[in-house]
Amino acid sequence: MRRIANTIDRMSTLFASNTEAYRADLDTLAERMQFAIDGGRNRQRSIDRHHGRGKVLVRDRIDMVTDEGSPFLELSTLAGFGQEDNEFPGAGIVTGIGVVHGVPWMFIANDATVKGGSLFPAGIKKHVRAQDIALENGLGCLYLVDSGGAFLPMQDEVFPDRDHFGGTFYRQARMSAAGLPQLSVVLGGCTAGGAYVPALSDEVIMVEGIGRIFLGGPPIVKAALGEVVAPDDLGGAALHTRQSGVSDYMVQTEAEAYGLLRELCENTNKRTIDERQGWLDWVEPEAPAYPAEDILGIINEDTRIPYDARQVIARLVDDSRFAEFKPEWGNSIVVGFTRIWGHQVGVIANNGIIFSEDALKATHFIELCNQRSVPLLFLQNTTGYMVGRDSEVGGIAKNGAKMVAAVSNAQVPKFTVLIGGSYGAGNYGMCGRGFDPRFLFAWPNSRIATMAADTAETVLTDIRLGGMKGAETTDEQIAEIRSTIRAQYEEQSDPYYATSRLWDDGLISPLDTRDALGMCLALAARQDAPVTGDRIVYRM
Ligand code: COA
Repeated sequence: MRRIANTIDRMSTLFASNTEAYRADLDTLAERMQFAIDGGRNRQRSIDRHHGRGKVLVRDRIDMVTDEGSPFLELSTLAGFGQEDNEFPGAGIVTGIGVVHGVPWMFIANDATVKGGSLFPAGIKKHVRAQDIALENGLGCLYLVDSGGAFLPMQDEVFPDRDHFGGTFYRQARMSAAGLPQLSVVLGGCTAGGAYVPALSDEVIMVEGIGRIFLGGPPIVKAALGEVVAPDDLGGAALHTRQSGVSDYMVQTEAEAYGLLRELCENTNKRTIDERQGWLDWVEPEAPAYPAEDILGIINEDTRIPYDARQVIARLVDDSRFAEFKPEWGNSIVVGFTRIWGHQVGVIANNGIIFSEDALKATHFIELCNQRSVPLLFLQNTTGYMVGRDSEVGGIAKNGAKMVAAVSNAQVPKFTVLIGGSYGAGNYGMCGRGFDPRFLFAWPNSRIATMAADTAETVLTDIRLGGMKGAETTDEQIAEIRSTIRAQYEEQSDPYYATSRLWDDGLISPLDTRDALGMCLALAARQDAPVTGDRIVYRM
């Protein structure tokens, strides 16, 4: 496989100014990540109270369970960001993939310093998404439970619907039946919805003095039955481990609980992160030939200036080697075989607007990967499919649809990273959220919407004025319409707006992307070959 030649001039003023702008973006990302960890109104008070009760903070808990020095792929850290006056930093829950005795597990851990670990809509979505990732990737789940259940003031948005609280229990029961262990440690007052997580687990550990499980807490019991009962007498560790049998083990400290949890994990006999099923081709990994830091200077701050996606690929893949398919045809899509952390992968990356030829080339390549059991990585940076009469005559609608159909039916694991624009049907053809990539990450410079704010401003203003059917409109009124539309599109296409709503699995830095993808590919490699049935390759 040939190495991609470097065409980047690191001494240029454009490279320097891009790097400076991107570093500012990364500072903003780091600040907002920190806010999810310990920010928010009265958060310090909650953290102090948590510590005052001798309890460990949520990320430290995960650290105490995972293998020393092992990676942890945290998901959707900024879920809920900017919503509900930022009252739910991190959506009150931490999810991610960590390694215990060499085996990857999905961690689902409540953050009791955010509204008592109760879940508002983005929190429940994050919980459900973590379970779906676990199921698809064959991961057992470790629940570190410290939750007041549903966030009651918004009960209509977290309780009754399909993917609400009930959906988490449904998933738990189904995963257990599918042989994916569900283990819980109870570390706080787990009430109602919070109680069913341990109750539905295969094995449960309770920490005496802090862990409690009850369907109704002391205030409800008093109101309903007139019984006055202390929390530990109603649902403490001793009661549940020695009397009711809701819990299987009781320990005195969190440290003991995590030691025991590691022992339970050891007895579940799952495949380690290094065990491959043989269907995914793997060789010893090599670092890229060029530094990932270059990406910060390659991505133009002014999105109207294009750059060559090959230069980004060269900074993500092993030894920057890339076997490009159809390099002379369909220039605004780049496709080819390469390796990331030793795992073979087929990359599809945009170099701008998608024309008919590009759509057909991508379709052909998706079929090749499907035929050969090679996972697919989509690097999205497109304003969408080409419009205009020439394009329509050339059949862009059917050619784009072929690409969408091929993406939908590819049975190999798919991964998507939004490295720039993700607009219109380009989002679909390039395996957006609706097309079930196993993981979808976004860079902080990305944008996602039906169309760019510039275009929306023109299109929607014309529609609005057309609807007024000749009614008198002043220049000021038109300017007002324009600026309202632009502001709406700019706000809603912002990557923080997107990640807050879990349209992705997290914003990540270009500098961490290779490692994150390496972990995702390693998870897929532990599973049996997914491809069955039709593997036809049609020449496009
Ligand atoms: N819905 C809404 N808010 C909740 C909540 C819930 N289910 N559970 C906790 N909170 C909020 C509290 O109002 C408080 O908010 P504030 O910081 O703005 O004052 C914050 O979480 C911390 O709660 P607090 O009771 O002070 O903390 P605690 O550590 O002493 O107790 C719980 C935590 C979870 C044991 C306790 O809050 C509780 O029992 N909550 C009610 C649980 C319940 O009935 N759930 C039914 C779900 S179907």
